[in-house]
Amino acid sequence: MENFVFQNGTKLIFGRETEKLVGKEAVVYGKKLLLHYGGGSIKASGLYDTVVQSLAEQGIEIFELGGVKPNPRVSLVREGIKLCKENDIQFILAVGGGSVIDSAKAIAAGVVYDGDIWDLFEGKGQVVDCLPIGTILTIPAAGSETSSGTVITNEEGWYKRSAGHPTMRPKFSILNPELTFTLPAYQTACGITDMIAHILERYFTNEKNVELTDRLCEATLRTIINNAPIVIQNPTNYEARSEIMWSGTIAHNDILGTGRIGDWGSHDIEHEISGIYDIAHGAGLATVFPAWMKYVYKHDVNRFVQFANRVWGIEIDLNNLEKTALAGISKTEEFLTSIGMPISLKEAGIGEARIEEMARKGTEKGPLGNFVKLYEADVAKILNLANQ
Ligand code: NZQ
Ligand code: ZN
Repeated sequence: MENFVFQNGTKLIFGRETEKLVGKEAVVYGKKLLLHYGGGSIKASGLYDTVVQSLAEQGIEIFELGGVKPNPRVSLVREGIKLCKENDIQFILAVGGGSVIDSAKAIAAGVVYDGDIWDLFEGKGQVVDCLPIGTILTIPAAGSETSSGTVITNEEGWYKRSAGHPTMRPKFSILNPELTFTLPAYQTACGITDMIAHILERYFTNEKNVELTDRLCEATLRTIINNAPIVIQNPTNYEARSEIMWSGTIAHNDILGTGRIGDWGSHDIEHEISGIYDIAHGAGLATVFPAWMKYVYKHDVNRFVQFANRVWGIEIDLNNLEKTALAGISKTEEFLTSIGMPISLKEAGIGEARIEEMARKGTEKGPLGNFVKLYEADVAKILNLANQ
């Protein structure tokens, strides 16, 4: 097992009606707050009104910035930084999904950073501190509600890049599964795919002695797989929505990565896809992950056999381990299809035209992945596999 440090200080408040507690949680950090949200789902659901009331009860002055798009843009981040600086805002509350939370994190870092925010995403500057942020999560998916990272798209060149720092972790995150009842089936499935991918990025490691984290990963995967069809068919099933919401947080709060080095190649490849084509991150992952698996499984057939057996219940064929490994990959594809995800670039409405460009941009700063190092030609081959 690798040495590790695990520290995740986000306070999690989980359950029915917990959004009503937001005022009391936020006021601890100051009386001037930026309320950051997306394209209107929180107004349609009534969540916006509840939040404003709870903040007002604590005498908090609210500054608002809505309009965060999925695959959040740096231009809005710059607007948010200006707003915070001009008004001495002390705290940012993100109400929405990963895009809103990531935009809030970037604003929080940009307020403290003395330079252009994009520097932090290009490695030209370092995050050293942030304004405190809190979240009310409305879609279980990205895991940004406890993660230390943010992913932002720059409209100039359509680069989608990440930055991270421990101070970016939200001070608190409110998770009420009822708030996810309004999610369309497609967004629910995109979120499910993303959380599965967060686990698989950690699962496929070269570290051998990680039994506990392997088993924790497998348990979380199985929980997601069991509950996914229920929430797709019955969006107001509170118990199943709860399992999915909690799994999404566990998938990305770093506990499942302890003692091992994760891969993250598929995520980096996907960011090229959603950066250019502006599709949902989860849908992009559904096209890339199976292709990545097919490309790398020979590197450690036994690990893929373990995955097939323990996650999908496939019997191990001792005479043909490769067959078992491939059956696990097929099962993964079948599952993604069953929840309505595209499993090829074609199905996602993307052709092969820009594969070379994505492979070049993705590897500009060096090879991707850790399980297997991927160079430009490898990334192009994986994208071509994803195109079949
Ligand atoms: O904008 P609104 O109107 O709120 O609508 C959103 C949006 O259109 C809608 N939605 C959210 N909650 C809803 C709802 N609609 C109805 N009812 C609800 N309760 O869903 C759409 C997608 O929202 P978005 O925030 O984009 O989804 P997600 O949480 O999947 O976030 C995706 C972003 O997170 C990044 C991705 O790259 C992508 O940009 N990631 C961030 C990570 C991190 N910071 O740690 C890690 C991830 O790997 C990922 O890269
Ligand atoms: Zn992801």
